Amino acid sequence: MDAFVDFKKHFSALHDPAVVYLDSAATTQVPDSVLAAVSSYARGGRGNPYRGLHTFAAKATKLLSSSRATVAAFIGARPEELLFTKGTTEGLNLVARALGSRLCPGDQVVLTIFEHHANLLPWRELARERGFSITYLPMAKNGSVDLELAKKIIGSRTKVVAVTQASNVLGTILPVYELAELAHDVGALVVVDAAQSVARLPVDVHQLGCDALAFGAHKMYGPEGIGAVYISDHLRPQLSPLLYGGGMVDEVLDDTIRYAEDLRLFEAGSPNVAGAVGFAAACEFLQLLGLEHVRQHELELTAKLVRALAELPRVIIHSPAPELGRVGVVSFSIEGVHSHDVAQLLADQGVAIRAGYHCAAPLTRCLDIGGTVRVSFGVYNDLADVDKLIEGVKTVLARFV
Ligand code: ALA
Repeated sequence: MDAFVDFKKHFSALHDPAVVYLDSAATTQVPDSVLAAVSSYARGGRGNPYRGLHTFAAKATKLLSSSRATVAAFIGARPEELLFTKGTTEGLNLVARALGSRLCPGDQVVLTIFEHHANLLPWRELARERGFSITYLPMAKNGSVDLELAKKIIGSRTKVVAVTQASNVLGTILPVYELAELAHDVGALVVVDAAQSVARLPVDVHQLGCDALAFGAHKMYGPEGIGAVYISDHLRPQLSPLLYGGGMVDEVLDDTIRYAEDLRLFEAGSPNVAGAVGFAAACEFLQLLGLEHVRQHELELTAKLVRALAELPRVIIHSPAPELGRVGVVSFSIEGVHSHDVAQLLADQGVAIRAGYHCAAPLTRCLDIGGTVRVSFGVYNDLADVDKLIEGVKTVLARFV
């Protein structure tokens, strides 16, 4: 697509033509516009928001607030509905701790077999502590979840449905909206892991009907170490802070503490202003491109990749058919070759992919495979990258006969 021609020029890390970066589901590269925004903040004078009256502190407070508004708007939320976190994992832990620590034996949390460990382990730990049960929606024959089965599983005992919007292993887009409807029909809350979807699909939390949605900047062309979680108005009063410390209180007396009544309550410690500025710049970068165009570009790359892989002997594609809905993440394996060997041989040729279980062990176990080779696209990839990957896979096939 025209908008993406010669697009690597916006990413310094990709100027070397020998680099073929196909690991954006792990972390994306950063465009120069985002780097410039972060550096301009620091060059202009850093400050600690809410904690000073001098110019730099006042500017930092203002930047934190405008960045929050930009990131919130990116997912259709209001600024007061968005907390900054260290990343998706922290957001999901915060929500799980708030909701899970109120659950009792007899209650049920519904997850899917597609969950990343970040949306799985917090619930597993809480279930052990609190005695509630976890039920997994399995993978249906068509490669997604079966909504008829979900209708039977999600019932009066269900208190939370926590689901990923797009699988980090297979790219499968899950029917979050439909699951949210089923959950809300029985009074359960809906938590969404949007780590792999926000930079690939237009996401609107109110249209999606979720109560919480977590994502991280480093998978959407922003900096590492910052993420955000959308918390609906009705869920916010149920949250407790994960951290206690500076910036979250209005008054501390010997025997009483008056906590902040706004978002500061959940963001104790010095805020990551540079991260927030970069996060906002990344949202603006994606907005300028248009998520619809990003999606079209990914679909084109994914279609070419799957077609080319399907022509190779001993290659088994695990990702679903395009009709089902998938993002630009494709997993495959090669009969008789360990995924790590594939990754190493590809790396030797300058092609970066990820191999293994991808922090989603239950899914790879259910597929009965010892890890996969995963290709994940970003906005900078082009059809030539797919050709280079395929050439690399042919080299692997020739080496392991
Ligand atoms: N969650 C990241 C991935 O899927 C690290 O690679």
